[in-house]
Amino acid sequence: TYEKIWLVAAMVLIVGFIATITYGAVGPGIAMVDDDGGSIDPDAIGDHERFGDTGVEHVGGNEYEVAVVAQAWSYFPDEITVPANSEVTFYVTSRDVTHSFSVVGTNINTMVIPGEVSQMTVEFDEPGEYGILCNEYCGAGHHDMEGKLNVV
Ligand code: CUA
Repeated sequence: TYEKIWLVAAMVLIVGFIATITYGAVGPGIAMVDDDGGSIDPDAIGDHERFGDTGVEHVGGNEYEVAVVAQAWSYFPDEITVPANSEVTFYVTSRDVTHSFSVVGTNINTMVIPGEVSQMTVEFDEPGEYGILCNEYCGAGHHDMEGKLNVV
């Protein structure tokens, strides 16, 4: 009957919407991952293999990894310096509430959620200075939550 056809069509649409949303959340370049096979304990970040020691790590060739912890209302570290012509993978987590990690003038703009790791890889060809901002309201100091990225 027609009713059955409409029911199936509605189901297909709903599945399609869910697939679109999921794709948006884990789409190209940005992934929410568990770094160590489980979730990160925000209270034990200091002991975490990656986030216990934040900052830039040269992992070979032109590849760099940057570990950042967001915490009301700062980023640790709050200044990041990488060389030009590099491929940089950011790993960002939060110690308290949901923040964002957004690098003005690039396509880096991700939510940062306690217990999860936001990972994104970006190539920086030219030297430049970029502001890092929090786009997710996180309390009284939200508007002052910022950092700096230097490509030298
Ligand atoms: Cu952190 Cu807004």
